[in-house]
Amino acid sequence: MKPRKITECVSFLGAQDFDRRLFDELIPLPDGTSYNAYVVKGSEKTALIDTVDPPKLAVLMNQLNGVEKLDYLIVQHVEQDHSGSVPAVLNRYPNVTVITTPKARPMLVDHLHVDPERIVTVEDGETLSLGDRTLEFIHAPWVHWPETMLTYLKEEKILFTCDFFGAHLATTELYATDKARVYEAAKRYYAEIMMPFRAMISKHLKRLDDYEIAMIAPSHGPVYDDPAFILGAYRHWVLDPPQNLVLIPYVSMHGSTQVMVNRLTTSLVDRGISVKPFNLTVTDLGKLAEGLVDASTIIFATPTVLAGPHPGVVSAAYLINALRPKLKYAGVIGSYGWGGKAPETVTGLVGTLKLDWFDPVMVKGLPGKEAFQALDRLAEAIAMRHQSLS
Ligand code: FEO
Repeated sequence: MKPRKITECVSFLGAQDFDRRLFDELIPLPDGTSYNAYVVKGSEKTALIDTVDPPKLAVLMNQLNGVEKLDYLIVQHVEQDHSGSVPAVLNRYPNVTVITTPKARPMLVDHLHVDPERIVTVEDGETLSLGDRTLEFIHAPWVHWPETMLTYLKEEKILFTCDFFGAHLATTELYATDKARVYEAAKRYYAEIMMPFRAMISKHLKRLDDYEIAMIAPSHGPVYDDPAFILGAYRHWVLDPPQNLVLIPYVSMHGSTQVMVNRLTTSLVDRGISVKPFNLTVTDLGKLAEGLVDASTIIFATPTVLAGPHPGVVSAAYLINALRPKLKYAGVIGSYGWGGKAPETVTGLVGTLKLDWFDPVMVKGLPGKEAFQALDRLAEAIAMRHQSLS
């Protein structure tokens, strides 16, 4: 696509990656993604904000055919999907200066072998004049790397946010007009990328209260011409207490654990609790991550394999621990053949979450009447705890 103007002096560049299906060899991308870049043209100087993932370099280079003289390359974040094409842009414009944070400078050298002589660092709150336009740099560490910053175009009140407020969503729509679709993509993105840094995100959100923002221009997904939409969503995800929702990530080898999941799900629903079961052999991990934004309780359901939990449950538990959701309560249910320590292993895998644990319900073989009664008691215990949720 050609550059598209979002104001008289700001153009939207970058590439839509409709076919990409995996990020970091981990995160599913059902809707692809985009790598947005922006050109800001002042009366005296021109700046490019962010670049694109190297496989899409040709798209960016074509778009830059209309930019004869580039003075500044603003690097908001060193991760390669935004900075991987920095060396190529520096080659094309021998006089361009990289503007970035002090923390990003050595990272650009380490990750991309950028010549340090071409990098100028800016402090938090520092401004850069483009003539009749002014860029203010806002350090925003841990969104989601330590070196990140935002850029505020003062005269237009546009906030460029790189990953912050982003969405893995390839679309020809310039603005977030299909709000339901964008909300879902942005929530998945928040869950997978930002949720582990919730405390820092909360501080950054508070700081942004001081800025008048007409538009939010992230480097993934469409531009928000109604910034209240995404700011409100983030405040809800980050600050509001968890909801009356139970997640059940599970694996069942021969059907017994599945029977237990079905019984517990029915028993919880009968008590007015929402439930999201995730069969980990087929589930989209992004959906599981999205559920973690809202859930109060997680119940791992696993058969016993080689004396411990199924490796599929181990992998999910490890990821859930790393995502640091707002979860408060947890439990383990499942079936075993002759013994094992599945509950102890699962509990250890999510140790950093400081969860309040229910007694496990582990059943030998096929669950029967006593197992169902135990699962009903578990559902009742969850319902009691959920009464205290605001
Ligand atoms: Fe979109 Fe952290 O890179």
